[in-house]
Amino acid sequence: MTAHARLLLVSSLTVALGTWFLATGSGTAADGAVGWKPMIPEEDVTKLIQHDAKTIYDKLPAGDPKAVKRVRMAALMIAAYAESSKNGARGNLMGVRDSALKLAEDAKNKKLDGAKKDVASIMELKGTGAKPAGGFPKELDLEDVMRPFGLPSTGGEGIEKELLSLNRRPLSPADMAKRSEHLALIGYKASVIGELAKLNPSEAAQKNATKRKKWDGWADDMAKAAVEFAEAAKAKKPDLLKKAAIKLNNSCSACHAEFRAEE
Ligand code: HEC
Repeated sequence: MTAHARLLLVSSLTVALGTWFLATGSGTAADGAVGWKPMIPEEDVTKLIQHDAKTIYDKLPAGDPKAVKRVRMAALMIAAYAESSKNGARGNLMGVRDSALKLAEDAKNKKLDGAKKDVASIMELKGTGAKPAGGFPKELDLEDVMRPFGLPSTGGEGIEKELLSLNRRPLSPADMAKRSEHLALIGYKASVIGELAKLNPSEAAQKNATKRKKWDGWADDMAKAAVEFAEAAKAKKPDLLKKAAIKLNNSCSACHAEFRAEE
């Protein structure tokens, strides 16, 4: 082989490998990717998956329409977390994602006979090998997307209240240490919800280009501020956490003032 031919071979191999890396690293778009840049460290992804799997466990026995909606949304959140892992080894997570998407589809079709087994395997971070038919749904009900922020009395997780309480004083170092892990998870969850809000503009925002621009801007602010919030929580920096909380809360209230119907 001449030096030139060898060089050609090496460079085409590099291109092939580069393409392969892209295909496995971020190219899941073809089979149902959520469509945003991964932003969650893998250790937090697994905790979030297990947290929402527990939500599904808790909601399954009720079986009423509201509980089934929560099961579906929690399953979709699990799929979204799996897709949002920013560390390399995502092979296992893609199996979990597929199982979660299948579970979400079953919830939509109210066929939850096998759900307990599915959620058990998700909890162990194992996929069931189930392949979703439709991938990640394109259109979601915004109320369902926002639900985890609401109070437990409305089926939520009380996240909004907790975020607002952080607007005031920076946490003491002791509280910061105690709540760091939990607050990081809330931040990453809010970020995923922000990305989902971006993909699911309200009716008013869909109909009007100016409103749409505002929508996109606030949803984007929300997603970004939420990652800053999570990272400040992980780094145990009370001042940064407070700054990020204010930014995050401002994005919520700005968007609500324009788009959320009066109750
Ligand atoms: C891009 C716009 C937008 C952003 C940003 C946004 N929201 Fe919302 N939110 C909405 C809209 C619109 C609704 C009303 C949905 C409906 O009822 O159809 C809503 C509804 C809600 C609800 C009620 C859900 C329920 O249980 O009925 C809560 C709680 C909520 N948002 C919390 C938050 C919090 C907390 C943030 C910020 C961390 C936030 N939202 C950011 C647009 C937004």
